[in-house]
Amino acid sequence: MTTIAVVTAGLSQPSSTRLLADKLASAVSSTLPDVEIEVIELRDLAIDVTKNMLTGFPSPALRAAIDKVTTADGLIAVTPVFTASYSGLFKSFFDVLDQKALDGMPVLIGATGGTERHSLVLDFALRPLFAYLRAEPVATAVYAASSDWASPGDLDTRASRAGREFAARLSSSPIVPVNSGFVPFEQLLGTGE
Ligand SMILES: Cc1cc2nc3c(=O)[nH]c(=O)nc-3n(C[C@H](O)[C@H](O)[C@H](O)COP(=O)(O)O)c2cc1C
Repeated sequence: MTTIAVVTAGLSQPSSTRLLADKLASAVSSTLPDVEIEVIELRDLAIDVTKNMLTGFPSPALRAAIDKVTTADGLIAVTPVFTASYSGLFKSFFDVLDQKALDGMPVLIGATGGTERHSLVLDFALRPLFAYLRAEPVATAVYAASSDWASPGDLDTRASRAGREFAARLSSSPIVPVNSGFVPFEQLLGTGE
């Protein structure tokens, strides 16, 4: 049994961040057999996280959420973009974790935003955060802008690629490549074998 913790920091109800988190989780579970998924909605823990920042102690509910994350085999972490970065709630949750708690943990990162133009938040904000915590984000991270939900074909393709990479990392098996449509240059020139 492989356990995956899903941390989702959306505030709306329904939440597009939760939708992306569920899409990533199902991409992983369709590749990896025998997976147990535990979803942690940070909006339900917002006050507990703030109290932990002020007192240094987690509430029982926050303690349970922290334990689910730190004892999981892998983590899917998804945040909405707020003011061009991860949300404050998302960051605060990782601020209250022990700094070594995610050491070596495979992470699949995702973000949602109103505009496609903020997709680099994955690379300039989320990757450095998890690098600092010595976690191990997989190569593909997934960003969903509002426009992606209208015709989610591309988003599904990205989620499925990220899911395969994450599943392969969890099972320590090689990533199964899909046909990318790439045609070798020799073949285009008609000089290949
Ligand atoms: C305070 C605030 C700041 C935001 N800043 C950005 C931003 O800088 N860039 C962006 O693309 N979207 C921004 N958004 C839009 C949210 O990222 C987007 O609506 C997100 O998908 C909401 O997630 P949810 O539905 O899970 O709550 C902002 C929204 C709020 C409420």
